[in-house]
Amino acid sequence: MAEPDPVVEAVFDAVAATAPTIRDALPGRRVESGTENPSGETVLAGDVYADELLAEALGAVEGVGSFVSEERPEAIEVGGAVGEGGEGAYAVAIDPLDGSSNLRSNNAMGTVVGIYDAPLPATGRDLVAAGYVLYGPITTMVVADGSGVREEVIERGNGGDGDADSGVARSVVDDDLTLPDEPTVYGFGGRVPDWPDAFREYAREIEDEFKLRYGGAMVGDVNQVVTYGGVFAYPALSDAPDGKLRLSFEANPIAYIVESMGGASSDGSKSILDVEPDGIHDRVPLHVGNEELVDRLESALDG
Ligand code: AHG
Ligand code: MN
Ligand code: MN
Repeated sequence: MAEPDPVVEAVFDAVAATAPTIRDALPGRRVESGTENPSGETVLAGDVYADELLAEALGAVEGVGSFVSEERPEAIEVGGAVGEGGEGAYAVAIDPLDGSSNLRSNNAMGTVVGIYDAPLPATGRDLVAAGYVLYGPITTMVVADGSGVREEVIERGNGGDGDADSGVARSVVDDDLTLPDEPTVYGFGGRVPDWPDAFREYAREIEDEFKLRYGGAMVGDVNQVVTYGGVFAYPALSDAPDGKLRLSFEANPIAYIVESMGGASSDGSKSILDVEPDGIHDRVPLHVGNEELVDRLESALDG
């Protein structure tokens, strides 16, 4: 097994160390901030808080040269570059608070992280690692770092697997996360009348075979598929042919994680990781899960 990349490890140490602080900050930050993000969406106080905390924590990691966030129009250069000219430095793209509309309804949310060894926008093939934190009944972190996928439980306090002074206790609860062979759940975003006909027909078949699990936060819904097997999609819509989710900091990291677990991803015709972006906020239709279900989707859309 390859030696862990120290910069990747340091990024996820920083993400784990901030998770309890973000979680504790949520009760007081359910209100709108009064601003819109580069995708034109309402930004909540929780989005702003998570973005600023993670920008500071990740910008301080030696080996991180630039930082991209759902909440910021452009990449920001940060001091952690390795070489003189910043060569060798990684670019980190984050969704600081995924599913923040669940703040009001008190449902699951998360943080998504992609670590690229190329300037952004880049394809998912330039990812060296990806992960997500899930703020559910407990806080977990799933990390794919090129040598498999692990799941950690993150708690306040010291001890566990985390280093003593990080203020968090980290326990690896699964060091080889793989998709269950038998799929059991599905979750599809958007409204049925807005789905293209071919997707709606595929969804009708899937609905007859599996149980619906859709909670309105990609990280929570993907974690259902990661845990129980199945398929998650936020498909192309009639009025939004690129779907809703952003490639750099939602679709690519999730696709990298699910493909690292033996699953598959698709934009409708090919792996998400092969999608060539123009900008860091490009949207893409996202479908991920068990390979057989993603293959069936691509056949249905190709019909
Ligand atoms: P974000 O809160 O980071 O903007 O992400 C929200 C996304 C994603 O988490 C979820 O899959 C999707 O929005 C849900 O969209 P709908 O509200 O249309 O279901
Ligand atoms: Mn999101
Ligand atoms: Mn978000």
